[in-house]
Amino acid sequence: KSLVILISGRGSNMQMLLDAKLPAKAITVISNNPAATGLEIARSRHIETHVLDHRAYPSRELFDAALAEKIDACQPDLIALAGFMRILSNSFVSRYQNRLINIHPSLLPAFSGLNTHARAINEGVKIHGCTVHFVTPQLDHGPIIIQAAVPVLPEDTTETLAARVLQQEHLIYPQAVRWFLEDRLMLTSNSIKIREATT
Ligand code: GRF
Repeated sequence: KSLVILISGRGSNMQMLLDAKLPAKAITVISNNPAATGLEIARSRHIETHVLDHRAYPSRELFDAALAEKIDACQPDLIALAGFMRILSNSFVSRYQNRLINIHPSLLPAFSGLNTHARAINEGVKIHGCTVHFVTPQLDHGPIIIQAAVPVLPEDTTETLAARVLQQEHLIYPQAVRWFLEDRLMLTSNSIKIREATT
């Protein structure tokens, strides 16, 4: 199996995927940000990396087309967004239907979009978390593969809550990708079921 990981920044989720010994024979990392520190991590692990700076493209459509071309050259079975901070056009999302997944730092459908941890604290929720889901044209709304919950504590700041959630992201993203690569995800209407492992 072949996996493409798209990043924009720190790349800690990407790092967990690279270190998870996934059943993938090829992994490629693509960043829209030349300064993403995640690129260094990937290079240090001798992973093929590509940079496609979105600022060099006059429109989202042209950037997405160039990105799709890079991705298609890898013939990936799965594309995993890992802190990829660009909204993708509908045509891009449709092209990779059922093989494009994302990790989002909230318990979707709560807190889609940005600043999830600050919003969770402001709303006074007692439980927060993270979600791995398939990407569909509606932002942060695709079928959910796995979620993890954490408590929100009275003394939490955005930073302490983000750190608690990130620990869980690092567990659930490799799990979700492994299930996908093992062909264990079954999509029925809008919900995902996990098949038993075959031995
Ligand atoms: C993570 O919190 C992820 O859920 C969100 O962006 C952050 C990326 O962190 N989409 P990293 O680059 O994986 O360290």
